[in-house]
Amino acid sequence: MQIAETIAAMRDALVAPVRAGAAVGLVPTMGNLHDGHLALVREARRRVGDQGLVAASIFVNRLQFGAGEDFDKYPRTFERDCALLREAGCDLLFAPDERAMYPEPQTFQVVPDPALSGILEGGARTGHFDGVCTVVMKLFAICSPTLAVFGKKDYQQLMLIRRMVAQFALPIEIVAHDTVRDADGLAMSSRNGYLTPAERAEAPALNRALAALVEAVRAARADAKNPPFGLEALAALEDAALAGLRARGWQPDYLTVRRRRDLLAPSPAELAGAEPLVALGAARLGAPRLLDNIEV
Ligand code: PAF
Repeated sequence: MQIAETIAAMRDALVAPVRAGAAVGLVPTMGNLHDGHLALVREARRRVGDQGLVAASIFVNRLQFGAGEDFDKYPRTFERDCALLREAGCDLLFAPDERAMYPEPQTFQVVPDPALSGILEGGARTGHFDGVCTVVMKLFAICSPTLAVFGKKDYQQLMLIRRMVAQFALPIEIVAHDTVRDADGLAMSSRNGYLTPAERAEAPALNRALAALVEAVRAARADAKNPPFGLEALAALEDAALAGLRARGWQPDYLTVRRRRDLLAPSPAELAGAEPLVALGAARLGAPRLLDNIEV
């Protein structure tokens, strides 16, 4: 695996494969890799084929961290990450430091529509998605990938990146990969490493709460005998799920059922009908903040 530490080196490394017609699959990461990331790398390989080039990036992007968030303590595990990427079949790694990525203050930024970027994760983390979209746009400008693979665990991030690519007419296919989970259902995340052993044992409760909410929504939608499933009934299910987590010692930011297409609340007709929905949750367990979602 070749490692490029500057924008110029990354562009150079891409010239020959692209001239030879290779498709480029990119997996953007902030490092501290786990099996979820490696599944994205393998998906990129599956998509671009043996003749294609699989690239990954490791960059802890200051722009997407708010004041008081974990930018400084975000785990940097570069040597281990390189070994894992090599094993997973990555050909080229872009690993700039901050000066290489942002040689001058990044005063031009991508500011997504607040209707999508200011709710849920964006409501809890002001400006987070401006930072994400800005760095992803810059990675796309540097790497010009044919496709880029993102995990569905960060559901809102994936939607924003899809919209950004569509609205800027970037010729890049955005590939969504299912969330990779530990055997007990916990969604893999670099931040799981912050959990104490007791918190780790408790952590799958977020996934269980979402799964129970999804089951209840499906059952209510399918129950033809009762009056149509309405917004009040949904709110009661969401409140019960939140209360259940609080009773176990969690501090939830949200646990809610939204439309898949824009993450807004469904109308009564959509809720009672067949509108595709998704249950999303974010909650703090001690210091770590965990995130998960399940499509309904
Ligand atoms: O999902 C992540 O790890 C980050 O938000 C990303 C997409 C690499 C941008 O920094």
